[in-house]
Amino acid sequence: MIDFAGRTAFVTGGANGIGLGLARTLLAEGAKVAIADIREDAIEAALKTLDNQHVIGIPLDVASREGFAAAADRAEAELGPVTLLFNNAGINLFQTIDDSSYEDWDWVLGVNLHGVINGVMTFANRMKAHGQGGHIVNTASMASFISNGAPGIYNTTKFAVRGMSESLRYSLAPHGIGVSVLCPGLVKSHIYASDDVRPDDLKAGAKPVNAEFVARLEQVHQYGMEPDVIARRALDAVKENRFHIFAHPEFKEELGEIFDEILADFRDYPQDPGYDQRIGFETMRRDNFRATRRSVRGA
Ligand SMILES: NC(=O)c1ccc[n+]([C@@H]2O[C@H](COP(=O)([O-])OP(=O)(O)OC[C@H]3O[C@@H](n4cnc5c(N)ncnc54)[C@H](O)[C@@H]3O)[C@@H](O)[C@H]2O)c1
Repeated sequence: MIDFAGRTAFVTGGANGIGLGLARTLLAEGAKVAIADIREDAIEAALKTLDNQHVIGIPLDVASREGFAAAADRAEAELGPVTLLFNNAGINLFQTIDDSSYEDWDWVLGVNLHGVINGVMTFANRMKAHGQGGHIVNTASMASFISNGAPGIYNTTKFAVRGMSESLRYSLAPHGIGVSVLCPGLVKSHIYASDDVRPDDLKAGAKPVNAEFVARLEQVHQYGMEPDVIARRALDAVKENRFHIFAHPEFKEELGEIFDEILADFRDYPQDPGYDQRIGFETMRRDNFRATRRSVRGA
């Protein structure tokens, strides 16, 4: 079981919401924490709230590869080798895909997907080189399983983060580095205010901000789960090296319904030419994949 005490954690989007909850909980477990966030005023406020000598704040736009490398250098110079990575920064844009612009795609993919990719590309090989094992948690969402017309681009990024995390889990396991995907439901957070951090060069294709809708979103998020509760559940899951971190139990039944609907799309077709040879290959692959899953789960 991984012990957080003495390790260094890097938490993106650490100045608000889930990221701040993670930082607080990691500090309470004796970890050193770098919170990286695009909102510099929120970093200052978070550092004041946390009031702990083992936390530093680093301004970072996770969409920037160069920025990420520089932030990693600074975190490791000040706090030591990063062996816990939380790719958590994210933004939301509540609209359908057909009603979106290329700038909308670039912004949401840039933060929610490329931000996670940049975190992994920056830190995975460093973590391997440190040789101290560790863990990576990528924040997706229940929206990585459950979609509706909106928010379509958000759904796209979260499905991708889940798939990427699953593949990474198998490639990093031999290095003693665990990977989990955090799939929260509604959170008491500031994500409703995402438009505030949209970069100027990606505003051209943006719809005018609907202040009334944002105010309604803000109200809905007040009913969300407290970030500290999510953080506690996430760190407990990391200790168990569990892949899916489902902090919100209310989604279990709906996920069951969705899995049943997916399976109901299969058909019992008659055997096509070449079926037997193909099945021979698939049986071998399936046995290998099952063995890998079991060994990574420690089952
Ligand atoms: N709020 C919810 O209901 C909910 C539900 C499921 C998943 N999530 C996911 O949880 C994660 C955390 O979001 P939250 O709800 O705590 O929101 P939040 O807005 O309270 O916190 C997110 C933080 O990310 C930062 N951020 C935004 N763009 C950034 C960028 N380009 N570079 C660096 N930092 C950036 C923001 O400044 C903010 O401090 C996100 O990935 C989000 O998609 C949220």
